[in-house]
Amino acid sequence: MFINFWYAADEARNITDKPVHVKMLGHDFALFRDTAGQVRCVSNTCVHRGASLAHGKVKGDAIECPYHGWQFRGADGVCAKIPSLGKDGKIPSRAKVDSYPTQEKYGLVFVFLGDLPEAERPPIIDIPEYDDPQWRVTTMNVLWKVNALRGVENTLDPAHTEFVHPVMGYQGEREDYNVPQIELIERDWGTGAKVKFVTPGASGSVKAEVKGGAFQTEAESGHHGATTTYTWIQFSAAAWSRQYTFNTPVDAYHTRKFFFQARNFALDPSGDARMDERTQVVMNQDRVVMERVQPFFVPQSSTEEVIVPADRVIIRYREWQAQWQSKGWLMDVDALAAAPENKATAIPSPARRDAKGWALDAAPMMPRTQKTAQAAE
Ligand code: FES
Ligand SMILES: [Fe+2]
Repeated sequence: MFINFWYAADEARNITDKPVHVKMLGHDFALFRDTAGQVRCVSNTCVHRGASLAHGKVKGDAIECPYHGWQFRGADGVCAKIPSLGKDGKIPSRAKVDSYPTQEKYGLVFVFLGDLPEAERPPIIDIPEYDDPQWRVTTMNVLWKVNALRGVENTLDPAHTEFVHPVMGYQGEREDYNVPQIELIERDWGTGAKVKFVTPGASGSVKAEVKGGAFQTEAESGHHGATTTYTWIQFSAAAWSRQYTFNTPVDAYHTRKFFFQARNFALDPSGDARMDERTQVVMNQDRVVMERVQPFFVPQSSTEEVIVPADRVIIRYREWQAQWQSKGWLMDVDALAAAPENKATAIPSPARRDAKGWALDAAPMMPRTQKTAQAAE
């Protein structure tokens, strides 16, 4: 799990003046709307004696702990009131919780989980189709018992389609089957793999282009940052599908997928149910395979897998990860899991860059060493 990316926390309509508890990166957060309607996100652990802030109340622009009523401001996490000290009591400077930047976009609330200053933060992926009348967008939100990085590798993988999604291929049974030359597309925050492949049969608007019962499809799948993925499929010259998934690691073992699918055909909303149904079938085919992979996390050693050229984009993705690890953004999942009953930590927020005196330690990170991803043989 990586810090210093924007993560989708919830659907925007779920965040109101009643606090909501959300778990991300193995940590707990409280989200709420302040009096100006601005979404706020703070570390959920009250620094007094550990109560869950999300189970308290919103009081104006602050959140009130349900245990002894301390109030923490949403904007900066600073404690503004300690009832037991009386009206003029001095509030200790360490009475503050981490507060995280938020953005509302695409009907979701995104939280920046990390300590980078604003100018250095990797952006949220652009979904130009979202507000475009030429496209119809549907959304879905599911929870998978899969490590998020393993899950991204599945989306990137150009060689699994034939086998995991029978409707999209010949199940590798044709004599001439191989994964054609993959074109790697380097983007600002990730790499995509573009492939052309032939699929059996066709229906609807693509029928006209069918030649000899098969037609050529072009698709690109890539990642943007650690856990956002996109898949652009060109069924025909005119019919395109563009999918985007914001994968939020709930913890190292569970991934919440906020999925967007844009289509530029069958724009009438009456077509939504059929599209979503097909998408669910395809997603479940992936889920069934991914929930069973061993080890549960991507292996740390290159000797524990046999890598072939069709895995090139996955190796590129791991190289990006090595780069982010070298900046100190990779969480130490084993250390995190070691003593959950004895120690609460917080994802470091931007304020930790300047201010000292935090009651909770920052979540443990892996050393900033550069590990080298294995090369495709
Ligand atoms: S534990 Fe939160 S106010 Fe005491
Ligand atoms: Fe798949």
